[in-house]
Amino acid sequence: MIDHINIALIGSKFMGRAHSNAWSQVGKFFDVSLRPTMHTVAARNATELSDFAERWGWKHSTTDWRGPVGSDQIDLVDIATPNNVHAEQAMAALEAGKHVICEKPLAATLADAEGMARAAEGAAGKTFVWFNYRRVPAIALAHRLVAAGAIGRVYHVRAAYLQSWGGPSTPLVWRFQGDVAGSGAHGDLNAHIVDAVRFITGEEIVTVEGAIEHTFIRERAVLEFGSGQEISGGGATSGRKTAPSTVDDAVLFLARLSGGGLASFEATRLATGYHNANRIEIHGDRGALRFDLERMNHLGFYDLDGDGGTQGWTTIDVTRAADHHPYLAAWWPPSHGLGYEHSFTNQASDVLAVLAGQSPVVPLPDFADALETQRVLHAAIVSARNHFPVSLSDLPEAKGPQS
Ligand SMILES: NC(=O)c1ccc[n+]([C@@H]2O[C@H](COP(=O)([O-])OP(=O)(O)OC[C@H]3O[C@@H](n4cnc5c(N)ncnc54)[C@H](O)[C@@H]3O)[C@@H](O)[C@H]2O)c1
Repeated sequence: MIDHINIALIGSKFMGRAHSNAWSQVGKFFDVSLRPTMHTVAARNATELSDFAERWGWKHSTTDWRGPVGSDQIDLVDIATPNNVHAEQAMAALEAGKHVICEKPLAATLADAEGMARAAEGAAGKTFVWFNYRRVPAIALAHRLVAAGAIGRVYHVRAAYLQSWGGPSTPLVWRFQGDVAGSGAHGDLNAHIVDAVRFITGEEIVTVEGAIEHTFIRERAVLEFGSGQEISGGGATSGRKTAPSTVDDAVLFLARLSGGGLASFEATRLATGYHNANRIEIHGDRGALRFDLERMNHLGFYDLDGDGGTQGWTTIDVTRAADHHPYLAAWWPPSHGLGYEHSFTNQASDVLAVLAGQSPVVPLPDFADALETQRVLHAAIVSARNHFPVSLSDLPEAKGPQS
């Protein structure tokens, strides 16, 4: 007998679609012990919302997110809204006794993220964060290989998340508004690679040694019809009216890892020629790994213990062997390929497993875990603005909302 949980989703655009797809697919491909019921979707645009609910299979829709969050019928609240409302929505859901799964970055500010982690500590509900790249099979396999000692002690990490959609013709959507997004490429893209590096290596970032942030495009066209909150919905621009962008376009920083290794991180929305190149390379004393999201079904592995005559980079097709490659058993026959959306469905499966008292395939981030990533992001900004190294152990607690 399979139990059900009722889900309320807040947000119905880019991530609203990704999460809706995951909840609707997970019970079809995975043997779940808890079946998700897509109960209610909440978002701001009433006319679009009922079409969205019908298309994706949500039973109810509302423009008031507090309704489902406070309802006895909801078990899990899924937050897919801009960063500045994560704290308020997550804390209200935790207070109402719900499980919460929230998009990344955990919050727009460190203070909000700390408030969320504090609220989670004493709560009845469990918390999760959509660092979905942990569940790209190549990254999950990299995590397992490092844990098994396949590359030995980590010397170097080189992580870069390179996009190019943020040129001068891109209008002032919420991702360029500091009061909504918190930061630009940093919280958007560095958040992913900081989490992925912590996850793959099993190490923490202990010091940010130096950082630079830059806003290349200082003014952007203002969206008409007050639709600036909707990146996916777009909206018309007046063509003449502009306003300042109040976030970074790029942030780069250097860091030390708890195992003594050195790491570099780069996030930019202006890497002309790259659209979604999330690249991580790790060099250890026994081998090396490399990954690029634009070739997400492959993981590069260099084995220093390999035969001298044939030694070289091996390109592992991570969708080939169901007994070795994480999540593959749920999907297709060998080498049929998986995509971006599968990482969300894989995460939905692990969340349902944990809520049913089972183990996830690879560890899931909760609010406390995502707070560590947020602390690294904050340390990088403090370092960039003050031109000095920042030790994570010296980072003062930001005064966040009380739980
Ligand atoms: N995991 C990933 O790979 C990934 C990718 C993209 C975005 N994200 C994150 O997902 C979140 C949402 O980003 P997006 O790209 O889907 O944004 P979006 O602009 O496409 O959608 C935002 C949605 O939130 C709704 N919304 C906005 N303010 C609201 C409020 N106060 N109350 C209720 N609903 C509100 C909007 O109506 C819209 O439906 C962000 O935190 C972002 O960083 C994560």
